[in-house]
Amino acid sequence: MSNNEIESSTSNEKKRKRVKEEEEEEELGEISPDGSYFSPPMAPRHPSQNDPLSQTFTEEDLPLTPNTVTSPPPPSGQENNLISSRSFKGCSKFDDYEPIKKIGEGTFGEVSTAKHKPTGRTFALKKILMHNEKEGMPITALREIRILKALKHPNVISLFEIAFQKGDRQIRRRGSIYMVFPYMDHDLSGLLDNKNVRITAAQIKSYFQQLLRAVEYLHSCNILHRDMKTSNILIDNQGNLKLADFGLARDFERDNKEREYTNMVVTRWYRPPELFMGAVKYDESVDMWGVGCVFGELLKRRPILTGQSDIDQLEKIFMLCGTPTMADWPEHINLPAYKSTISAIKSSYSKSFSERFSSLHKEEANLLELFLEMNPLKRISAKKALEHEYFITYPLPAQPGSKDFSPFPTSHEYQTRQERHKAEAEAEAKRASTTRNDGNWRGKDRREYDGRWKDERDSRVS
Ligand SMILES: Nc1ncnc2c1ncn2[C@@H]1O[C@H](COP(=O)(O)OP(=O)(O)OP(=O)(O)O)[C@@H](O)[C@H]1O
Ligand SMILES: [Mg+2]
Repeated sequence: MSNNEIESSTSNEKKRKRVKEEEEEEELGEISPDGSYFSPPMAPRHPSQNDPLSQTFTEEDLPLTPNTVTSPPPPSGQENNLISSRSFKGCSKFDDYEPIKKIGEGTFGEVSTAKHKPTGRTFALKKILMHNEKEGMPITALREIRILKALKHPNVISLFEIAFQKGDRQIRRRGSIYMVFPYMDHDLSGLLDNKNVRITAAQIKSYFQQLLRAVEYLHSCNILHRDMKTSNILIDNQGNLKLADFGLARDFERDNKEREYTNMVVTRWYRPPELFMGAVKYDESVDMWGVGCVFGELLKRRPILTGQSDIDQLEKIFMLCGTPTMADWPEHINLPAYKSTISAIKSSYSKSFSERFSSLHKEEANLLELFLEMNPLKRISAKKALEHEYFITYPLPAQPGSKDFSPFPTSHEYQTRQERHKAEAEAEAKRASTTRNDGNWRGKDRREYDGRWKDERDSRVS
């Protein structure tokens, strides 16, 4: 199985719905017994220098804020013309871009490269999928934009602007909104999957150091990413890494341990054990498990925990880390789904980490083990991980922008997935024609292949 075929029992639709509900509860207040919303008193915010979400936005900071209209008021009946001639700060016309090709597809959007006509620069445009047109811009996209605008770090993707494409009734085209990002040559999933790419130990160290810096920054801003995985990590040919896809990110209350968040987050292969056991009170440690899975994948060049279902994933975690005990993780028995998950796993396992990762260097294995700690309270933080001796032993981390990095063939998860599907289809077609010669042909046609591909794509969860 490949890195790209990440399955999850959490359907995309369910996940989207839950995140949306979470946001609505937050914005509108709690649901009263009769089902209607009532607003709670405003929670006090404690602004801190490091918390970008506590900064007060001015109108100018907000996306889609109309610039002041300076022209005289229009004669009555011409208001529509005024609306269409308004420009918005941080928002441009889609016509300024010349689409090139599709490079990604996910739960919350579709990503294409495009040339910015005025500058000739290449950008990545993520189309915001409108799952329910009547509700307008999805709340998940608004949250993603709000968080992206608040963040500024060399290892976090920056939002260049929002591009708007007007609908056209004549050709039955709906209006679309795009997030515009600087184009990055690769995502880490595509890069690790590409057989023509050789990545040195010093480059791995550099990528991982940059990832940890991004995560340390996010957590210092009280933001959880909640979708840590290799396809959300972007890399350019100079060796710069940027963490992307803030579609599931949110701010969290560090000092409020009773605060509950949605449990339906993080792609299965990167999801920590406490989430499988139903945890809803969590913190930045949920991201650190995923960071560890990415580190293992960088070192082994393939995903390290690849469950076929949620229970299978948890069992695989137990096989690696050992079935949890009261001594090393006393709180696990209080988790909401502890009983149902534990009873579904019949065997008891002892830890097999050292055998499984015996080929790694001492510092690599030692650091990896600190992320793959089942007890979230004991799991290493990004800040501490950056101080680990792995980063000061030879080979030292390669330097982005130096001759330590030379261009790799462009690699994105979407492209490698397409290529694999093509190869699979060819193999299948060959097999089918052989079977037909044997007289057992079942009449497989292209539509059936398409159906299978679609099912695969829909079961992939971000
Ligand atoms: N700035 C960029 N430069 C190059 N490629 C990008 C860029 N942004 C996104 N991509 C590509 O598009 C893919 C999907 O983007 P993104 O993860 O933001 O969307 P998504 O809909 O949230 O995806 P998913 O649900 O699969 O996580 C990425 O894995 C990457 O391959
Ligand atoms: Mg993604």
